[in-house]
This record gives sequence, structure tokens and C-alpha cells, in this order.
Amino acid sequence: MFSKRMVTGKMIFIYPGSFDPITNGHLDIINRAVKLCDKLIVAVGTNISKKPAFSVEERIELIKASIGENDKIEVTSFSGLLVDFAKKHNSHIIIKGLRAVSDFEYEFQMALLNKNLDSGLETLFMMTSVNYSFLSSSVVKEIAINGGDIEGLVPDRIKDRIMEKLFVRKNV
Ligand code: PNS
Repeated sequence: MFSKRMVTGKMIFIYPGSFDPITNGHLDIINRAVKLCDKLIVAVGTNISKKPAFSVEERIELIKASIGENDKIEVTSFSGLLVDFAKKHNSHIIIKGLRAVSDFEYEFQMALLNKNLDSGLETLFMMTSVNYSFLSSSVVKEIAINGGDIEGLVPDRIKDRIMEKLFVRKNV
């Protein structure tokens, strides 16, 4: 079952998400996961229950700017099913970050659905670092839209771009 995917002999992990926008929590998972594989593909996907603030191209750009140069990491997008994307890239490992119990039910459902669609696919969960357990793209957007300080929540290199996009100065 793994034969085609193991042909390269390389361990390829896929880290999928909305990344709307990438946060320091995501970056922490990327930096830790890349140490465990030969290649990490960060894949910007569509979550049909979310209306993104950033376009797919903007999200990819922000991720690339956050990561900097790293030959082991590829940043791309996908449409359609994650299982098909994984197959196309000869990967059988999905990496997801887990923050709190509140994440568990949704992630558990996704992992089981993906396993049901492709029994050769494994989802590995990485616990968030404690500093980022409260952090999400949604809270970053909420703070930025209201002109708050997002220092420490997103990579320094992209902080200004996020503020420029989201903070509409009110003339009051
Ligand atoms: O960061 P998110 O919003 O939790 O990311 C969710 C994402 C994009 C990884 C997920 O919605 C996804 O995999 N979408 C593609 C469609 C799919 O394969 N869904 C799972 C089976 S129903």
C-alpha cells in the first residue's frame, strides 16, 4: 500500500492548514516538524467553514517570508481533498498541531475521515509549545483589526504586512 509513496525512500511530511495568517504557533510546529523528516510541505488548503481574510497567494507569501531559506521546506497550496494531495506528493504523514482539548474533537474527526478515505495515511499530532497554547489566526486577526499589538504572536518579519492589511485606521 505504501509502495509508491516509499519509492523515493524519503520521509515527506505534509503540514496542512488555513494559515490565515501564519502565527508563531504554526511556525513553532514547522520548525519542530522539519527536524523529523526529509521534506516538509506546508500546504495552504481551503476550509469550507472559514472565510479567509488573506488570499491563498498572500498566505503563501507570508509563510515563505516567515520561514526564510530552508531547502527542506516547500510552501504550496492545494484544492480538493488532502488525501489526494498527499498521494500526489508521495507522502503518508500529515502533521497537525494540537493546542488544547478544544482542538481535539475536530482534529480527531478530520484524522479519522482522512484515514477512512485513505487507510495508508497517518496523522501525527504535535503538542503546541506552552507559550502558544492560547494563540490562533483568529485572535491575531481580531487584535490586528482593532489596532492592538500583535508583537510576539506572529513572526516579526510579517507583523507590519498583517497590520497593513487588517487595520483600517478610524478617523475619530
Ligand atoms: O487550519 P485549518 O482551518 O484547521 O485547516 C483545515 C484544512 C484546510 C487542513 C482542511 O479543511 C482540509 O484538509 N481541507 C481540504 C478538504 C479535505 O480533505 N477535508 C478533509 C476530509 S472531509
